[in-house]
Amino acid sequence: MSTDSEGRLHLAIDGPAAAGKSTVALGVAQRVGLTLVDSGSMYRAVALLSLEDDVGTDDRDALLEIARRVAASFRLELRDGETLRVYLGEREGTEDIRAQEGGRRVSPVSEEPGVRTEMVRLQRCLVEGRDAVVEGRDIGTTVLPDAPLKVFLTASDEERAHRRALEMEEKGIRVDRDTVLREISRRDEIDSSRAVSPLRPAADAVPIDTTEKTAADVVDEIIGMLADKGLIN
Ligand code: CDP
Repeated sequence: MSTDSEGRLHLAIDGPAAAGKSTVALGVAQRVGLTLVDSGSMYRAVALLSLEDDVGTDDRDALLEIARRVAASFRLELRDGETLRVYLGEREGTEDIRAQEGGRRVSPVSEEPGVRTEMVRLQRCLVEGRDAVVEGRDIGTTVLPDAPLKVFLTASDEERAHRRALEMEEKGIRVDRDTVLREISRRDEIDSSRAVSPLRPAADAVPIDTTEKTAADVVDEIIGMLADKGLIN
């Protein structure tokens, strides 16, 4: 079995908003038995706390202090092997971090280099010594540059807006598709153009366009790649 430099199987899944990263990462984690790390939930936690503390997105020192607080208290728990729950110390933040208001400030907050340094350190710490799948924007380029398999998921703008709207409707939140499309496009724009670790595929990432594929298809495809590389049996 070939692995990264630590001798661990690390899978990096990156891509723009609502391209299916979380669902696919969960599917692969379940099938292969990998630790699952959702890096976006960390940046969302920083955005949430900054909102609650009334900290501006340009207040570097206060954002860094919040990122340190998140790094010290953040925990992920896979409940019943099905849902990834997010904890900040004793507080469960799974739902709160996904609320719309925090969602609007997550990309501006994620541009802050000090915040990124803290979150990257946290991500590496969570996978150290473990076989893991990590999903996000800069996993293949920055967080795990030695990962033996990196995939970059994409889907058409319309399909991504459709998927995110369905997700929200399942939670009982009524949304307008055009608004969803505008919000994910705005985040993609900020994420792709920031100075530090912008959203882009690593040179050795395998691109997968998921527009016409189900999540199960994509999970199968990635499992096939892991097997072809001799990373799993
Ligand atoms: O689920 P979705 O793809 O919409 O977003 P997410 O993975 O929860 O990430 C939310 C935001 O966090 C992104 O739009 C980025 O601004 C930021 N993020 C980042 O900067 N770097 C990462 N590795 C992951 C997320």
